[in-house]
Amino acid sequence: MNVLAIETSCDETGIALLEAGGGLRAPKFSVTTNLVSSQIKIHRPFGGVVPNLAKREHLKNLPLLWRKMVLQNTAHGSRKKFDDLEGSFMKRIGLVTVTVGPGLEPALWTGIEFAKALAARYRKPLIGANHLEGHLYSFLLPQGARPPEKISFPAVALIASGGHTVLLSMSSFSKWRRLGETRDDAAGEAFDKVARLLDLPYPGGPEIQKIAGRGDTNAIPFPRPMIHEKNYDFSFSGLKTAVLYYLRDHKKPVPDERMAADVAASFQQAAVDVLVAKTIRAAVAHDARSVILCGGVAANKELRKELSHAAEKGGLTFLVPGAAYNFDNAAMIGAAGYLARLRKKNYRIAADGTLDI
Ligand code: KG4
Ligand code: ZN
Repeated sequence: MNVLAIETSCDETGIALLEAGGGLRAPKFSVTTNLVSSQIKIHRPFGGVVPNLAKREHLKNLPLLWRKMVLQNTAHGSRKKFDDLEGSFMKRIGLVTVTVGPGLEPALWTGIEFAKALAARYRKPLIGANHLEGHLYSFLLPQGARPPEKISFPAVALIASGGHTVLLSMSSFSKWRRLGETRDDAAGEAFDKVARLLDLPYPGGPEIQKIAGRGDTNAIPFPRPMIHEKNYDFSFSGLKTAVLYYLRDHKKPVPDERMAADVAASFQQAAVDVLVAKTIRAAVAHDARSVILCGGVAANKELRKELSHAAEKGGLTFLVPGAAYNFDNAAMIGAAGYLARLRKKNYRIAADGTLDI
């Protein structure tokens, strides 16, 4: 079935066309077109995402991406009017899906209204998708010619993004239990805040990773919050505060390059240590056979390396999305929408900023 997916929960506008098949035990996807328009440059001067700016940009970008999607997937050499091309494109669509949460509500609404109008105009079924389920299923999207690695259940999943840090224990694609989550800042948020302390631009994750490569991970003994606590929760705000105090106490007027690299490397190591330790502990305690890592922070090379080594050492299959699907995109929403339909999960077609997984 051809699935048309729309994502506008934060600062990326996404529209994707994918082919979905298979049942709940072995879903299969192939991505035909995955269009993403990033607003990073617009939000950068503000050091984070501004909801109303995001809404304005989605409203501007959605029709542009839509046009591109239709033209790329129809005989646009012909002299047909756009409406006709749109009609023939929509004829092939079996399901329209859109992110309904979690995320920024003004931003979510832009995608929802767009999807509702399309689905109504062409009388197509419309289903709401959960953004976090999108991240969770993103490893199912093929990476180039390589088919995705097979998952064996039970599995443990770490979803680490700019807004969430959640650990799940999964017994199938449709059944899971939340084991723990962050009690304050999300992992990505901590990277973003520490980057700001180091005068690095938003989003901070890639910037921290870049300069951390030149620093010493052992230079500063930052805390590993909650690493030994017998639960699966996280806390990153204390770690960020430790960086703040360190810089306040050691900063010359501005941190020099060497110090910034050491702070970034030591901070990154502390965050990675906690994420890896808790995920592996959860996997062992729940007899997991696979570990899933997803969300924007899954792009972090050090985290990928250390979690994959630890998983391998424990005989666990390690699953991560391909580079194109780490960050917010609509292809993963297509997977989430298709699976939500198989699961008979009917999310309300309305923005829900705090929707849970
Ligand atoms: O999943 P995502 O694209 O958006 C949300 O749903 O939040 O995640 C964005 C987050 C940002 O906080 C960003 O700093 C972080 O992912 N991130 C990284 C890296 N690349 C992006 N964090 C650590 N290391 C990275 N390489
Ligand atoms: Zn996300």
